[in-house]
Amino acid sequence: MKVEPARALVGHAVVPGDKSISHRAVLLAAVGEGETEIAGFGRSGDTESTLRAVRALGAEVEEPDVDVVRVRGRGLRGLVPPSEPIDAGNAGTLMRLLAGLLAGQGGRFELAGDQSLSRRPMERVAAPLRELGARVETTDGHAPIVVEGGKLRGITYELPVASAQVKSAVLLAGLYAKGRTTVVEPAPTRDHTELLLQHAGVDVERKGPAVSVTGVERIELDRVDVPGDFSSAAPLIVAATLLPGSELYLHGVGINPTRTGLLDVLERMRARVTLFNKRKLGAEPVADIEVRSASLVATYVAPTEVPRMVDELPLVALLAGLARGETVIGGVQELRVKETDRVETVKDVLKPLGIRVSAGEDELRVVGVPTRPKGGGSADSQGDHRIAMLGAVAGLVSREGVRLEGAEAAAVSFPGFFELLDSVSKR
Ligand code: S3P
Repeated sequence: MKVEPARALVGHAVVPGDKSISHRAVLLAAVGEGETEIAGFGRSGDTESTLRAVRALGAEVEEPDVDVVRVRGRGLRGLVPPSEPIDAGNAGTLMRLLAGLLAGQGGRFELAGDQSLSRRPMERVAAPLRELGARVETTDGHAPIVVEGGKLRGITYELPVASAQVKSAVLLAGLYAKGRTTVVEPAPTRDHTELLLQHAGVDVERKGPAVSVTGVERIELDRVDVPGDFSSAAPLIVAATLLPGSELYLHGVGINPTRTGLLDVLERMRARVTLFNKRKLGAEPVADIEVRSASLVATYVAPTEVPRMVDELPLVALLAGLARGETVIGGVQELRVKETDRVETVKDVLKPLGIRVSAGEDELRVVGVPTRPKGGGSADSQGDHRIAMLGAVAGLVSREGVRLEGAEAAAVSFPGFFELLDSVSKR
């Protein structure tokens, strides 16, 4: 696909429901009591994998509308081992969180994923789940993995890396454990699991960097309203910031502070992003977002900020490429174990545009030039949805456009991304 340059982004848009929250809502509903209605469900390649997984485990799922699903739960210990391995597709969140829930079930469960997911580290969840008392086997540290539930005992686990997926897996297993399970985070990561567990009646305690749950007998969600996905809004926010004359409004976007590190970075870079109509949707904060274009200056991104914008860092690199000065992004190690090695794929997309980006041991450096990059070349998503969207935004803000290979990967988190982008693009 050729992404042609745009003059500006103008208009109003709504992004799909949050992927992180949609995964969690379906997984928790599957072990909940009675029926849970999930409204604003973010339908995407990844969340379809989650619906398929819970169906395979015996939960009944109805889909009365594109963005509404109803899940009839099996109760906390009611998941049934399917005869085939559960296919998590491309979804790391699904594989890691489900491993946590399966640690408390009776039976033997096998989880597999696509090529990309099978390259990603799984010992990071297997190790704490073993400590809790489950039997977990990985394939040389990767998927396929096998989880056999056992009698679990609460533990205190210090996360070696700041990962919401690992934190969530341990907390979910903690629901089944005798006593208390505590996770200590090296830096704040998204807290959607904690908020949903509280909503489901679980006593969740947060003390500084430590979050604890105590084993329960049942959970009940009833209804979950999912806000728009900030990570899906991000490419639009970035494109509108970079295209002079833009005036874009995004409605009903989740602004949970554990997700919005990009907004802090944008503010430091002197972008013009305004949040209004701030409100709560269930336990999650949401707002409407107004974006006007701006001339940017370079910034420094500290390693402790990274988890709050981990999926937006490819876009931060692009922003930096068009800002005045040199931007340093610290703590990028974790980018190497995402759907692709995003340190490499970000460089592969941005360098041919003429953006001066280089990678050090654990940092990305970008020397910005405040002008449209030339473009005219091609970019390859390598099957990574965030890289597909990065390539699209890069094409829009370039002079000659970008030929984008593997554009369809965007549907892993954001089906309809290109259509939406087109609808607000002024050529
Ligand atoms: C996610 C957490 C992040 C993020 C991923 C979704 C989640 O991963 O990159 O896209 O829903 O918990 P890590 O927590 O492993 O960094």
